[in-house]
Amino acid sequence: MKKRDQWSSNFGFLMAAAGSAVGLGNLWKFPYVVGINSGGIFILAYIILLILLGTPILMSEMSIGRNTRLNAIDACNKLKTGWGFVGGLGVLGAFTILCYYSVIGGWVLKYLFKYIVSPSIDNPSEYFKNFSESIVEPVIWHIIFAIICITIVIKGISGGIEKISKIFLPLLAIFIIVISINVLRLPNALNGLKFFLIPNLSDINSVSDIFSILLHAMGQVFFSLSLGMGTLITYGSYLGRNSNIQKNSLYIPLFDLIIALLACTAILPAVFAFDLEPTAGSGLLFNTLPYVFDHMKYGKYLAIIFFLLVFFAAVTSAISLIEVISSYFIDNKKWSRKKACTISGIGFILIGIIASLSLGTLNNITIFGHTLFDSLIILSDKIIMPIGGFFICILVGYIWKTKNMYDEMSSGGLFKIYFKKTLTFLIKFFAPAMIIIIFITSIF
Ligand code: PFF
Repeated sequence: MKKRDQWSSNFGFLMAAAGSAVGLGNLWKFPYVVGINSGGIFILAYIILLILLGTPILMSEMSIGRNTRLNAIDACNKLKTGWGFVGGLGVLGAFTILCYYSVIGGWVLKYLFKYIVSPSIDNPSEYFKNFSESIVEPVIWHIIFAIICITIVIKGISGGIEKISKIFLPLLAIFIIVISINVLRLPNALNGLKFFLIPNLSDINSVSDIFSILLHAMGQVFFSLSLGMGTLITYGSYLGRNSNIQKNSLYIPLFDLIIALLACTAILPAVFAFDLEPTAGSGLLFNTLPYVFDHMKYGKYLAIIFFLLVFFAAVTSAISLIEVISSYFIDNKKWSRKKACTISGIGFILIGIIASLSLGTLNNITIFGHTLFDSLIILSDKIIMPIGGFFICILVGYIWKTKNMYDEMSSGGLFKIYFKKTLTFLIKFFAPAMIIIIFITSIF
C-alpha cells in the first residue's frame, strides 16, 4: 500500500491549517459583518466564542484526524460505526462552500488584474454590479481560480498544499501590515479604529439584538476557523505524533484573529476617513474599497498588494476544502489524487457557474426567495457548519470520550494537557448547548 503523505514539519502543518482558517472569511466577511453588527460589541462576542467554542472544536477535529489517519467520513465512522455522516456533512459542506468561494475568488483575481492594467476603477458600485451580474467574465475568472487551486491540491500534501501555504501565508501577513500602516495615516482613521475596538453598549436595545450578534459571531467563528467541515480532521490526519495538538489549537485561532483584526484595521478606518458607510455589507470589499484606493496616495499599488493578499488567502482556504473532498475519494474509493481532485473540481466548477449566473441572468430562479448563490451561503454557514460542529462535540464528548481525545493529544504522554476539566465541560455541555440555542433562535 502507498504510504500516506505527511506534513514535512509541524510548522508546515500550522501554515496550512492557518492558511485554511485565514481566507475570504477574514478579509471579505469579517470587516463587513463587524460593520453591520455594531463594531466593538461584535468583536467582543466573537473573541469569547472563539475561545469557548472554536478552540475546543478545533482541538477535537484535529485529534480525530490524527488518531484515525483517515478522511473525514471514514474517520468518524472508525470512531463509531454509523457516525460517518458527521464527516459526510463536512464533505457536503466543503463542496457547497467551494461552489461560491471559487466565484468570489474569481472576482478577486479580476480586481487584481484590473488594477494591474488600469490606474483606478471609476464608479466602483456600478462597475461591480455590471461585472458580477454579467454572463461570461465572472465565469471565466471563477474557472481560472478553480484550476489554480485544483492544480495545487493535485501536487499533494507536502509538495503542494504545504509548500504554497508556507509562501503565501507569511506574504499575506506582511502585505496586510503594509496596507494597515498606510490606512492608519489617513485623516479621521482613529474613528474607524474606535468603531471596532471599543464596544458601545448603547447599540444593544433588546435581547434579540444580543442573539443576533451572537448568531453572527458564532457563524463567523465556524466559518473563519474552518470548523464543522472536516477540514481539521483531514489536515490532522497527515499530522505526525510529535506535534502538540493543544499548542496548535491555540496558535491557529490566535493567528486567525490577528489577521481578522488587521483586516478591520486595513478597511474600516479607510471607510471612516472617506465618510463612507461601514454598514455597506458584502459589497464593502468590491464597492467601497476601490473608492478608498482611488483617493489614496499610491492607491493603485496598494490596491494591487491588497487584492494579491486576498487572493493568497482565498487560495490557501479553497485548497483545504478541495482536500476534504478528494481525500475521501483517495482513501475510500482508492482513486488517484489527480482523478479525485479533477472530478471534484469539475463538480464545483459547474455548480459555481450556475451560482455566478444566479446573480444576473438566472436571478429569477430562487430557492425560498434566495438566489442560488445566497442559498449556498445559507446552507453552508447557517445549517451545515453548526450541525457539523454540534455532532463533532457529541461524537468526541459522549461516544469516543474526551479521555481518549486527551490520550491522542498527549501523544502517548509526550505532552502535558492543560485545562482538561474545563475542556471536557466545553465539549460536552457548553458548545452543544450554545449551538442549539443560537441555531433555534436563528430559525425563529
Ligand atoms: N476559513 C475560511 C475563510 O475564513 O475564508 C473558509 C473556510 C475554509 C471555511 C475551509 C470552511 C472550511 F472548511
